[in-house]
Amino acid sequence: MIVVKLGGSIISDKSKPFSFRQNVVEGIAEEISHFYPKKKFLLVHGGGSYGHPLAKKYGIREGFAEEKMIGFSHTHQAMLELNKKIVDIFLKKNLPAFSVSPSSVFVIENGEVVEGSTAAMEALLEKNFIPVLFGDVAMARDRGMDILSGDQIISFIEGKLEVEKVIFLMDVDGIYDRNPDEKGAKLVEMLDKKTSVEGKTGKFDVTGGIKNKIEEAMKMKCPVYFINGMTRGNLTKAIEGEKVGTYKP
Ligand code: IPE
Repeated sequence: MIVVKLGGSIISDKSKPFSFRQNVVEGIAEEISHFYPKKKFLLVHGGGSYGHPLAKKYGIREGFAEEKMIGFSHTHQAMLELNKKIVDIFLKKNLPAFSVSPSSVFVIENGEVVEGSTAAMEALLEKNFIPVLFGDVAMARDRGMDILSGDQIISFIEGKLEVEKVIFLMDVDGIYDRNPDEKGAKLVEMLDKKTSVEGKTGKFDVTGGIKNKIEEAMKMKCPVYFINGMTRGNLTKAIEGEKVGTYKP
């Protein structure tokens, strides 16, 4: 099974609340349709401008408080709205995407999944469905409530299921040795234990940005790709194992 993360910054414009990039998601569905059903896929999308601004507004990361309960639900509903848009695009292409709500199956602690069942996902995959998960709010052992990032979901799934590769779709060409907006920033073609990168975290990002992604990727047993998801054809290259973006063997 191939896990694809649709980063929040490619499916939406993170600087504009509730913006959705329909054409980008259609392109991704189109590329996946050339490999399905020969290959199995599990998708995880980010919060982008649906999840992050609300998570911030309601202070979800800072933990449970009775007056935040409505905001907690609102944040989840916003993610369901985004998830519906994405799943619908796949269904239109006749790809059997199926929404799986992370907050219904995972309990977290310190931002990581500590309890959860992958049984439904495994059964869906077995029948060739394409489960579609997403960064979500979650009940947390430590602070009562928190945000579960799509990246942490992928780490958990990679540890539990048979994953061929993980492909992160981002709005830059891969991992850079410093902030890609800075002059002289160089793309890192291969990630190894010695690679050091400075973290870049956007204005609305509540879940740790690129640094967390790299740390999680380094822990994974399977190959990991970080590629530009706005460039058509990149996903195809990564699925086929061609050189593109940043690669972790
Ligand atoms: C965040 O998920 C989810 C919410 C804020 C509710 P991610 O951390 O996976 O989202 P992106 O990819 O950074 O947008």
